[in-house]
Amino acid sequence: MKNFLVIGNPIEHSLSPKLHNYWIKINNLNAIYNKKKLEISELEILIKDVRERKIDGINVTVPFKNNIIPFLDKLSSEAEKTQSVNTIYLKDDIVVGHNTDIEGFELAIKNIKYDVTGKKVLLLGAGGVSPSIVLALSKMRANKIFISNRTQSKAENLKKIFKEIEIVEWGAIPNFDMIINATSLGLKDDENINIDYSKVGSGKFFYDVIYNPSETKFLKSAKKNGNKTENGKKMFIYQAQASFKIWNSLEPIIDEKVMELVN
Ligand code: ATR
Repeated sequence: MKNFLVIGNPIEHSLSPKLHNYWIKINNLNAIYNKKKLEISELEILIKDVRERKIDGINVTVPFKNNIIPFLDKLSSEAEKTQSVNTIYLKDDIVVGHNTDIEGFELAIKNIKYDVTGKKVLLLGAGGVSPSIVLALSKMRANKIFISNRTQSKAENLKKIFKEIEIVEWGAIPNFDMIINATSLGLKDDENINIDYSKVGSGKFFYDVIYNPSETKFLKSAKKNGNKTENGKKMFIYQAQASFKIWNSLEPIIDEKVMELVN
């Protein structure tokens, strides 16, 4: 039986097992996908289990996407550039780290037929997922990427990797076509981004990486002001689909049931 795992801390709320086990079932695979809460000190031994074929694949989530890197044998070019790994697999006895968040974001944006080409994008947050989003936006030929983070030094670190981005102060609102919330603000119901976007007018695209709650205050008020909105649910599903494809050499479907599972 194949053995897959998502690791993180916390991990209780991860929906990855639901999604992967559904795909395992409908494809009649002899496999199981579990979740495991870990401490950073346990990462090395876990990768040993991959090398010894006790584990067939791992998804990595907050806060280990970067911390896991020293224990891997090789990184894909995407994982290398973003210094972020969310998918681990063994290939020719080599433990490889890859990042499917980039593809997840790109496919989610393409799925809703938004064309990023030539657009000005304001990215809020410089945490774990931000490098993946910047890389995807650059691949999709955004004209300009502004980054705004409460702690400016973290935005500066991101700029060391992606020279093309421009840092703006937290709270500043440059002219944009698309704005992305990649902060954790909004995960809790009583939280909101303390910036007033009502003055930017209508007809912009507001994207939130958060999908639970399905509509953050950030998206709610954007919609009220006549903007297009989208949450991070499809990004989550597409990154999972890409991992599944790597491990099982088949592309699982995204149907109504999948959309319902991620709620
Ligand atoms: P990490 O910082 O460990 O990578 P993350 O969940 O990936 O964690 O990122 C959290 C993001 O939400 C960061 O951009 C963080 O900003 P800081 O770098 O300044 O911490 C942002 N964030 C979290 N709480 C915030 C708040 N109250 N106001 C503004 N930004 C906040």
